[in-house]
Amino acid sequence: MKLEGKVAVITGGARGNGLATAKLMAEEGADIVIADICQNMNTIPYDMSTEESMAAAVESIKSMGRKALGLKCDVRKSADVEAMVDQVIETFGKIDILVNNAGNSSMVAIAEMDEETWDEVLDTHLKGTYLCSHFVLPHMIEQHSGNVVSISSVGGQRGFGMGGHYCAAKHGIIGLNKSMAMEVADHNIRCNVVCPGTVWTPMMQGIAAYFGMEGDEAREQFTAGHLIKDPSVEPEDIGRAVLWLVSDDSRCITGNMITVDGGWTAAAP
Ligand SMILES: NC(=O)c1ccc[n+]([C@@H]2O[C@H](COP(=O)([O-])OP(=O)(O)OC[C@H]3O[C@@H](n4cnc5c(N)ncnc54)[C@H](O)[C@@H]3O)[C@@H](O)[C@H]2O)c1
Repeated sequence: MKLEGKVAVITGGARGNGLATAKLMAEEGADIVIADICQNMNTIPYDMSTEESMAAAVESIKSMGRKALGLKCDVRKSADVEAMVDQVIETFGKIDILVNNAGNSSMVAIAEMDEETWDEVLDTHLKGTYLCSHFVLPHMIEQHSGNVVSISSVGGQRGFGMGGHYCAAKHGIIGLNKSMAMEVADHNIRCNVVCPGTVWTPMMQGIAAYFGMEGDEAREQFTAGHLIKDPSVEPEDIGRAVLWLVSDDSRCITGNMITVDGGWTAAAP
């Protein structure tokens, strides 16, 4: 097992890409902390996870024979993140792996976008990545080891109309990651990014539903840019990339990123 004895914190881990990542890490021996908002947000046009879904996620990890903890935490809020990290240290004594995965989106053109809509997306992705890294890194520095993976997107490499806030945040995560990697390399800590293409999670389904689209037809439209159509990119594909980055198999890789998009960005205009 590649992560035996490790403790991993996965933000937004109650479902979707985060939960798939948590389960793959648990399979490799890691104990898991899921930190999720479990509460809806004003400008996000679909539901976030609930305390029930987080509890179910935690049970699914425990049934694999690992320790698991679910903590309600809004990654936009400094006090929430600090309390979450304190709780993890109190429970497990250390944090070996941080996955900055919590995310959301709405679809609004910049000319029509109000400040709250901008803030809810920017603060979740970019400020959340900063805050979680800010509170976790001192523990990793003290133990002289650690691994941070932050989830960006193909939207971190190109623009999407009506996704200016999302793309700004996801581009920002890539720059933030490079800087963090420089700051902590001497402390034996690696920092990398995974950029998913379209994965048919509740986030993408929620965005499709906002446009009145659903089912296979919606999924086909949203994944039209992928060069590889079959297999589709699944949450486990994102999880496997994260797993590789936090394992010793990638021991010489830091400040870098892996794009799991079925080839989409290779062909992007
Ligand atoms: N699904 C895709 O096509 C796709 C593509 C590119 C990138 N991503 C990224 O993958 C990550 C996971 O997304 P997903 O597709 O699994 O979506 P999802 O909606 O299924 O899961 C996101 C989770 O984050 C939680 N969350 C949202 N805001 C939060 C906050 N402020 N604090 C704490 N938790 C919060 C939600 O409750 C939910 O459990 C996100 O960063 C997303 O931007 C997804």
